[in-house]
Amino acid sequence: MADQYAHSGEDGKPTEIPAIRWDEPPEGPVLVLLDQTKLPAEEVELVCTDASALVEAIRSLSVRGAPLLGIAGAYGVALAAARGFDVDAAADELAGARPTAVNLALGVRRARDAYRAELAGSGDVGRAASAALGAARALHAEDAEASGRMAERGLALLDELLPGGGHRILTHCNTGALVSGGEGTAFAVALAAHRAGRLRRLWVDETRPLLQGARLTAYEAARTGMAYTLLTDNAAGSLFAAGEVDAVLIGADRIAADGSVANKVGSYPLAVLARYHHVPFIVVAPLTTVDPATPDGASIEVEQRAGSEVTEFAVPQASAVGGGPGSGIPVAPLGTQAYNPAFDVTPPELVTAIVTEEGVVSPVTAEALAALCAKAGSS
Ligand code: MRU
Repeated sequence: MADQYAHSGEDGKPTEIPAIRWDEPPEGPVLVLLDQTKLPAEEVELVCTDASALVEAIRSLSVRGAPLLGIAGAYGVALAAARGFDVDAAADELAGARPTAVNLALGVRRARDAYRAELAGSGDVGRAASAALGAARALHAEDAEASGRMAERGLALLDELLPGGGHRILTHCNTGALVSGGEGTAFAVALAAHRAGRLRRLWVDETRPLLQGARLTAYEAARTGMAYTLLTDNAAGSLFAAGEVDAVLIGADRIAADGSVANKVGSYPLAVLARYHHVPFIVVAPLTTVDPATPDGASIEVEQRAGSEVTEFAVPQASAVGGGPGSGIPVAPLGTQAYNPAFDVTPPELVTAIVTEEGVVSPVTAEALAALCAKAGSS
């Protein structure tokens, strides 16, 4: 079940609400999400009391973005355990809620493994539930720490690639504090550049069809005071042609073993544009997004979403493919078919560098990526 808490900021100012938090009111433990489908108009929290509510929140993008999906999945298992639900069934349901971001299944697995190990050892379901919660909290904290390290490494790379400073960065989708235990991935690098006085402008792609750029990245950018400008996705070409982009910074939902990068649909065209215009195309992602079990880009499952997200504007509760018409404003004739992949895949040869918390891979090759993962695994 899900309930809503409404917030109003003091003097109408935006409130500081974390993207996700665990709470233990007298009625029992809950997972509280900042409902991202309502931003930027409203800052409303969604309260999940069971895994099914969280699955719906994941599908409707109330909670979204690869690292945060991992954290949410882990807390979802902890919630099922704490509330006495069937943990394996909840874990399976959560892991299957969205297919592309590898972090989701990883986070679920981590909490489930902790639950199972404790149960096998002590036979105590209460202790097993605490172990699952401990695993979720650890993942949350690790992601926050990884975010800080990616920001440092990413800024150092930008400074190396663009020695003149005054970076003009183009980004796509949303990769800030709304998707992370910390300040995010690609957005955290832009923020570090802003704080260092070296960000001239953040170009924010609106990110059709669900407008994660316009609704969420612009919301986050506005709160930091950085210089930012919103553009429609199809304006990116003329922006490059005008020489206004020094680097592209994006996040990732899954990085295959060969370095192929699945990210929000529209990332691949930016990589092509960046190559043509000799602009670095940089992917910023924690190592939890690298999936050695996925050999290449063709093996990444790309989520296909409901056509109503394309044929209508402002579908508030857009659901995954198979759902009926949404409740938005129609912008195409009734019955129009839509092609609506949520992600696309950029081949490694178009990626200048992958920045992780453990190091930078450039050029992007399977060998270099495997070596970084091995180094991280052994440290
Ligand atoms: O469909 P979404 O909004 O979950 O897609 C999110 C993205 O594509 C992000 O760019 C990606 O998860 C990286 S976030 C660090």
